[in-house]
Amino acid sequence: MNSLKERILALKKEKNAVILAHYYQEAPIQDVADYVGDSLGLSIEAMKADADIILFAGVHFMAETAKILNPTKKIILPDLKAGCSLAESCPPDLFQKFIDQHPDHIVITYVNCSAEIKALSDIVCTSSNAVKIVKAVPKDRPIIFAPDKNLGKYIISKTGRGMLLWDGSCFVHEAFSLDKLIEVHKLHPDAKIIAHPESETHILETASYIGSTAGMIDYVKTNPNNKFIVATEAGILHKMQQEVPHKILIPAPTKEDNTCACSECGYMKMNTLQKVYDCLLNETPEIIVPAYIREKALLPIERMLELSK
Ligand code: 13P
Ligand code: SF4
Repeated sequence: MNSLKERILALKKEKNAVILAHYYQEAPIQDVADYVGDSLGLSIEAMKADADIILFAGVHFMAETAKILNPTKKIILPDLKAGCSLAESCPPDLFQKFIDQHPDHIVITYVNCSAEIKALSDIVCTSSNAVKIVKAVPKDRPIIFAPDKNLGKYIISKTGRGMLLWDGSCFVHEAFSLDKLIEVHKLHPDAKIIAHPESETHILETASYIGSTAGMIDYVKTNPNNKFIVATEAGILHKMQQEVPHKILIPAPTKEDNTCACSECGYMKMNTLQKVYDCLLNETPEIIVPAYIREKALLPIERMLELSK
């Protein structure tokens, strides 16, 4: 009997499918993927893909974005319940009311939101291009930024632009403990702290580098330092360690748990290798985005891709 990995690779070939995986996916899933990346890289790969089926190993909003960018392809997600605390913090009816209260504002949304929220937006951004996109907005235009208040505060600190922030956050990135981080740094004073901008301001203030998952991997590859404390979801350590096998990577400690020092996204971890196999075999669950939402959501994503060139 072939291993699950071998059966997935054979099915992928038979069905002319491609597997796109986020860095937070469990290691065996990353290892069967054709491409592993951050939200921006995955969106671009999804748009370019010419396979018949795109299996998106990530969370729901990522698979939806793939469908918006490449609507003729069949997009499948191993577990439909793989959501995101940020996306869930921003219900479309409440967001519409918020926009209506500030009709002169440009609406910029972080890609971690539903297709309905994207359809209400002027421009979408990811963690790798958010600062650039906000800087591109004329200075006299006020901005609404949603749903991540921590990323929003970081952008304000980098651009000096006042923005109205939606009160959303990522529970994984808010789990890091500043006190424990300082303790770990005292034990490893030669380590550089690197953090994802969804983390809280007090964590970001300790960091030598702040950036997207792809940006963080790039930083540890190119920086001459040999030790890093990594403040983002623990799944990133798989690819990061493969890229720098000789360097020491320490997961940033979380508030609650003393046994597992790392922070995991329960939504990302809903996908398993078995579910990837079942999903490819049955070509379900499939991501469906109604045409009227898809068409409206496409424009702000295209603006992002144009502005981030
Ligand atoms: P990246 O775009 O940096 O990969 O971030 C995605 C995400 O969900 C972070 O929590
Ligand atoms: Fe959403 Fe946070 Fe999970 Fe990323 S890590 S998918 S922002 S809940």
